[in-house]
Amino acid sequence: MNTPPRLSGKVAIVTGAGSTGAELSNGRAVAIRFAQEGARVVAVDRSLEAAEATAAAIGDSCLPLQADVSRPEQVAAMVDTCLTELGRVDVLHNNVGIGSLGGPETEARKAWDLLLRVNLKSVLLTTRAVLPTMIAQGSGSIINISSLAGLAYWGVPSVAYASTKAALNQMSRLIAHDHARYGIRCNVIAPGLIDTPTAHLGLLPVYGGDPAELRRRQESLAPARRMGRPEEIAAAAVFLASDESRYVSGVVLPVDGGLATQMVSPECWAIDDARDVEAAT
Ligand SMILES: NC(=O)c1ccc[n+]([C@@H]2O[C@H](COP(=O)([O-])OP(=O)(O)OC[C@H]3O[C@@H](n4cnc5c(N)ncnc54)[C@H](O)[C@@H]3O)[C@@H](O)[C@H]2O)c1
Repeated sequence: MNTPPRLSGKVAIVTGAGSTGAELSNGRAVAIRFAQEGARVVAVDRSLEAAEATAAAIGDSCLPLQADVSRPEQVAAMVDTCLTELGRVDVLHNNVGIGSLGGPETEARKAWDLLLRVNLKSVLLTTRAVLPTMIAQGSGSIINISSLAGLAYWGVPSVAYASTKAALNQMSRLIAHDHARYGIRCNVIAPGLIDTPTAHLGLLPVYGGDPAELRRRQESLAPARRMGRPEEIAAAAVFLASDESRYVSGVVLPVDGGLATQMVSPECWAIDDARDVEAAT
């Protein structure tokens, strides 16, 4: 039996839909998957070239657009173009986010304002811009990409990044609460460690610039003992974008190989598997 595409008839805006490298980013993976599921996709990136590369991978059902989503006038133009060209907006997938490393004495001085603007205020701006249309339609799904760093300490000091992602979780719950009566849902995906071009590159100097050592640590952190794939973020996003999740709102969904369940590093007790304890005791 052929199942129909899960997003057919829908128009989706995906922000940060390009990629900073040749490999898939989370946003590009979502844009491609949404289109495979029948949506018409507006692929937005601050780099037009990156947005066009995503559109080239998709074909006619993708409209590439340049916009810096932290700039109000560019966000307004983005939504205007979407409505003019495609007539509606059913899904807003807020994927843009940038990282930085350090604690309150270092990172907060350098990156605080920038990360608040790019990781948090951008979502306020895009949400504000689509809400009148979604309210008039009586439907809409807003998906915000947060991070496990917004839920727990992930072993790396990143106070500005973690704070913006934690605030994004709560902002999303409030948007969900206040707009449920209009048929609008708002949910969060909190990725763990995902294998994208820029993932954790800032940590390279800590491991002597050795990418293999960084990779070994990235792969060993989650109980699944591997990094996640952008396609696995996209799979969760399809569910939240589709009508299958019509009664799901205000949820923060970790996609993290079980990382959120882990209270301490496994190296603390040097117990890797419950069966090792059973065998020894
Ligand atoms: N990769 C991971 O391990 C991981 C883990 C947790 C959360 N996340 C989150 O996933 C999201 C995407 O991460 P990624 O690793 O795929 O990123 P990425 O850096 O590979 O891609 C992000 C894209 O966003 C674009 N972009 C950046 N700032 C923009 C702006 N102001 N306006 C428009 N476009 C902009 C970039 O040009 C790039 O094409 C981020 O919100 C990030 O915080 C990633």
